[in-house]
Amino acid sequence: MSAPDLQAPQLQVPKLQVSGLQAGYGDVQVLWDISLDVRPGEIVSMIGSNGAGKSTFMRCASGLLPVRVGMIAVDGKPMAGAPPASFVRAGVAHVPEGRRLFSAMSVRDNLLMGAYLREDRAEIAADLDRVFEMFPILAERRRQDAGTMSGGEQQMCAIARGLMSKPSLLLIDELSLGLAPRIVEQLSERLVEINKTGVAILLVEQDVIAGLELANRGFIVDRGRVTLSGPARELAGNPAVREAYMGLGA
Ligand SMILES: Nc1ncnc2c1ncn2[C@@H]1O[C@H](COP(=O)(O)OP(=O)(O)OP(=O)(O)O)[C@@H](O)[C@H]1O
Ligand SMILES: [Mg+2]
Repeated sequence: MSAPDLQAPQLQVPKLQVSGLQAGYGDVQVLWDISLDVRPGEIVSMIGSNGAGKSTFMRCASGLLPVRVGMIAVDGKPMAGAPPASFVRAGVAHVPEGRRLFSAMSVRDNLLMGAYLREDRAEIAADLDRVFEMFPILAERRRQDAGTMSGGEQQMCAIARGLMSKPSLLLIDELSLGLAPRIVEQLSERLVEINKTGVAILLVEQDVIAGLELANRGFIVDRGRVTLSGPARELAGNPAVREAYMGLGA
């Protein structure tokens, strides 16, 4: 299972374009020079060791963390300095590391939180039906408190909540963390389905082999810098990548 090859990328305005991005927390600088793009309809994997800055990047790309230096654009529109709501309106949905559901709220209410900026009631209801169709377990559990669900169910809920904002770019930070392989397989299938509806996906995935299998392209981030990028298949075959990130011999 892998994403399709896409045509004439040089002719497209990138969904997300980032160049020379620097960011951090207080006195600590984490991202030193991140340049990357995600094209419409693509699945892109971001790979890096613990602490490399992947989640920090995801926060910048959804407006949660200010950009200190550099450019970030969505559909060609500069976004540095814009608040998270502007990123959501521009079509960016962030599925954060650790899922961050409202644990004392029902599944249904968590999903509706994803639509908080929308006013098209009829369409929101239709989209709720659509995510319930995609994740039937969420329909079954719609009245259950989100915090009482299993890890896999919570991840489905977090992805579905992201979809409720009608994104054209889904940022997913750690898809499979703590989940059984069977659940990860189901989630990956759903991501491919979501991608086929035209939603681009930027994915951070601890299982680098699985992440690259899903993706068209990949970027390696090392200590806050992009050190390597290319088609996912090339990266998966690169001896240095195999040794450093896949635990395979060169
Ligand atoms: N809120 C914060 N305040 C201060 N430092 C932070 C904060 N969040 C992250 N950091 C630091 O930024 C660096 C990068 O963290 P980040 O979470 O972006 O890494 P990561 O690549 O997502 O790692 P992992 O694979 O473990 O999720 C780390 O050194 C971390 O300690
Ligand atoms: Mg992280």
